[in-house]
Amino acid sequence: QIYSRIVGTGSALPERVLTNADLEKFVDTSDEWIRERTGIRQRHVAAEGETTGDLSTLAAQRALEAAGVKASEIDLIVLGTTTPDIIFPSTACLVQHRLGANGCAAFDVNAACSGFVYALGVADKFIRSGQSKKVLVIGAETLTRMVRWEERETCVLFGDGAGAVVLEASSEPGIYATCLHADGGYKELLWNPVGVSVGFKDDEPNHGVHIRMSGREVFKVAVKTLDALVEETLKAANMEAAQLDWLIPHQANLRIIEATAKRLGMPMEQVIVTVDKHANTSAGSVPLALDFAVRSGKVRRGQNLLLEAFGGGFTWASALLRY
Ligand code: ACO
Repeated sequence: QIYSRIVGTGSALPERVLTNADLEKFVDTSDEWIRERTGIRQRHVAAEGETTGDLSTLAAQRALEAAGVKASEIDLIVLGTTTPDIIFPSTACLVQHRLGANGCAAFDVNAACSGFVYALGVADKFIRSGQSKKVLVIGAETLTRMVRWEERETCVLFGDGAGAVVLEASSEPGIYATCLHADGGYKELLWNPVGVSVGFKDDEPNHGVHIRMSGREVFKVAVKTLDALVEETLKAANMEAAQLDWLIPHQANLRIIEATAKRLGMPMEQVIVTVDKHANTSAGSVPLALDFAVRSGKVRRGQNLLLEAFGGGFTWASALLRY
């Protein structure tokens, strides 16, 4: 049997940091409100002209270096994002050329905050089927481009960043199971309803490109859905929660993360938390958290990791793997 294994991780963040205290200066909010409701203390914000592709390229280069794999050896790039550099070509194609991996298959996956875990699930299938041997999986976002800085309900929540992994075919696990789901019936609770086909709103700032979210409703569905997702994933991998070493959740809100950990009976010492430093970087959040956990020495070879995410669509996805 062929498994896919993570052989290297990397990440990238914009240099500019915006703290809660910085936000207090131009929007009616407080550090205390943001920390208590979300766990966020600061976020990184892309500079003018700094794109999802820039952050992706840097994260990918670091993952390739950690893996000891050359860009020319990569036979597939799957990139999760909902903030591509341009409408087309895909950001995966732009990154492929910059890395020097020209010729391999490359495409984007749009599953909002679940984008990286979706991309990982897709890449895993390519490797298991024998189609690909070495795959670059990226989750990257410049979501602050869609933020209205005067809207306190949303602007405090998001940040920019990217993470990447190199997946390789192996006779040893590897990824045991991935679970991917969506329910488009919830689209209006978290969306950005403008685009090429529907049209843009020329009378609105940023042509109507702007995150709309019913925070409280999203919160409720997210907690319930993630509870069911982690149960499903354990079953698919034929494992018990007690066999997990780390939970690496989507970093949207500390309270959602704590609820999932509680469901699994895992103490917070076994949960990777970066939401305080990065805020919600959507598709970037899980691979950023993974890379931080690897580079800080927390996550070690042979440990079992449960990755999960929930986001606009709604989409939700998980992966249970041996690192
Ligand atoms: N600063 C100060 N006050 C605020 C702010 C702010 N930034 N934002 C809202 N408030 C006020 C509201 O106006 C409201 O005031 P009121 O009681 O006078 O009406 C009060 O705070 C409470 O607002 P709620 O929205 O009910 O607060 P809640 O406890 O639900 O927290 C939050 C809001 C943090 C958005 C929470 O609902 C949440 O995290 N939801 C999930 C969102 C999420 O995870 N989204 C991302 C998942 S998918 C993705 O990543 C794209």
